[in-house]
Amino acid sequence: MRTSFTAIIALSLLSGSALAGAESLYLRHCASCHHPERHGLTGPPLIPEYLGAKDDARLASIIRDGIEATNMPAFKGVLSEKEVLDAVRFIKSPAKAPEWGLSEMLSTRAVSDRASAAAGPGPGHNREELFMVVEAGSGIVHFMDGVSFKLVGSVKAGAVHGGPKFVPGLEHAFISSRDGWVIKYDLLNLMEAGRIRAGISARNLAVSADGKKVAVASLLPAGLVVLDAESLEPLKTFRDSGAISSVYALREGRRFVAAARDRAGLFIIDDITLEETFMETGAPVTDFFIEPQGRYMVATSRGSGKLWVLDLREKKAVKELAMPSGMPHLASAAFWERDGATFAAFPHIGEPVLSVLRLGDWELEAAIRVKGPGFFARTHENVPHVWVDTGTDTVQLMDKRTLTITGEVVPEPGKKAMHIEFTRDGAYALVSVPEDDGKVVIYDSRSLEPRKTVPFKRPLGKYNAANRRF
Ligand code: HEC
Repeated sequence: MRTSFTAIIALSLLSGSALAGAESLYLRHCASCHHPERHGLTGPPLIPEYLGAKDDARLASIIRDGIEATNMPAFKGVLSEKEVLDAVRFIKSPAKAPEWGLSEMLSTRAVSDRASAAAGPGPGHNREELFMVVEAGSGIVHFMDGVSFKLVGSVKAGAVHGGPKFVPGLEHAFISSRDGWVIKYDLLNLMEAGRIRAGISARNLAVSADGKKVAVASLLPAGLVVLDAESLEPLKTFRDSGAISSVYALREGRRFVAAARDRAGLFIIDDITLEETFMETGAPVTDFFIEPQGRYMVATSRGSGKLWVLDLREKKAVKELAMPSGMPHLASAAFWERDGATFAAFPHIGEPVLSVLRLGDWELEAAIRVKGPGFFARTHENVPHVWVDTGTDTVQLMDKRTLTITGEVVPEPGKKAMHIEFTRDGAYALVSVPEDDGKVVIYDSRSLEPRKTVPFKRPLGKYNAANRRF
């Protein structure tokens, strides 16, 4: 009954009979797994906010061929080619904003009693050494010991979006999925501690400096949801902010800072009182990093060709810089110190360049040509290089003193290598080869010899607890 009523409403919103036909096709073939209003059930949401940049050809091939080793069936032979294209057009059309308030969130909440009952001294693993490894091919986040490189735990998380976070005391980790789930994992007992669906489609989450609150950037419904980290109960929902593209926790001043997608500014939220203030930025912030001291944000806005330095304490811009190398990818910048100064290195979207920025006076120190446009730069205080992926099979190494490329590693010739993370002491670097039958290759960070290979299905990010408290 509900389904047909929904269908009638949706039909009346559609322009043209082709889309109307696509809607009934969707309800017949897809709604049982993807939800009558496309909000996701056992399958993910099929709405523009979730599908993001996937182009029509890619979506059509998913529908035609299904997704191997998942419940997504192949519709080749069931749907005509025209019907496949109709289905693509339909899932790309705007979805009605869902009703997703406190009661809907709470209806999905599950918290494990066993985890809290068992909270005593956990198994004899050193939590400082733990890694989370995001395995995109299976939707699993693995927990790996950073000394033996053995897998010690795992949790089914779906399509993970944004970096998972450790709480400062390393009792728990929090993971967010693209379809709005927040998963809490108990690092003492190495088991899931609970989950809640905070929205239909989400970008990332942040854990407050005291580990007591979790803020979730929600795209649909648009807003920011703050949860109690212990109970996972929603404490406050900000809806006037519009869609939030990312949220971070600042150590300094105990605040969350959230970038809104369609607003020319940042929301700064006191993590105790949950009061919000708005800081104007002149254009929407589409990407940023916060320097290690937590006071300054370096931000950009898509298409602006500029970097801005924002003082989050004084809530004002302190510098504007032209970006000759095109749109920077700031969220994955690497930081290091040399002769009393702090430096940041970051790649550029579509340009084979690594930029080095000197913090404090905010001058561009160098623009280094690399093999291809990469995505991630990473270093560690005990390591002489910044390791940078290049969108190719090669990870290049830039000497932190001379700012020149002095080495490289190639985990598997012809296969893309990406995302670098170090062990707690920096002795080893982990590099992903994100193939279906992929792997993480572990390098001695000084001799550059590969020491070990661990197989994963499309491994992406790796996060070490000691290096990623924030
Ligand atoms: C039996 C359940 C089921 C049915 C029926 C189904 N799907 Fe899926 N679909 C899934 C699951 C599960 C996934 C996620 C697979 C994974 O883990 O990657 C998925 C993923 C997808 C994706 C990829 C989304 C993304 O960006 O990751 C698309 C597109 C999609 N389905 C479209 C459709 C369409 C269109 C139909 C109807 C013609 C349909 N599906 C019918 C279960 C189903």
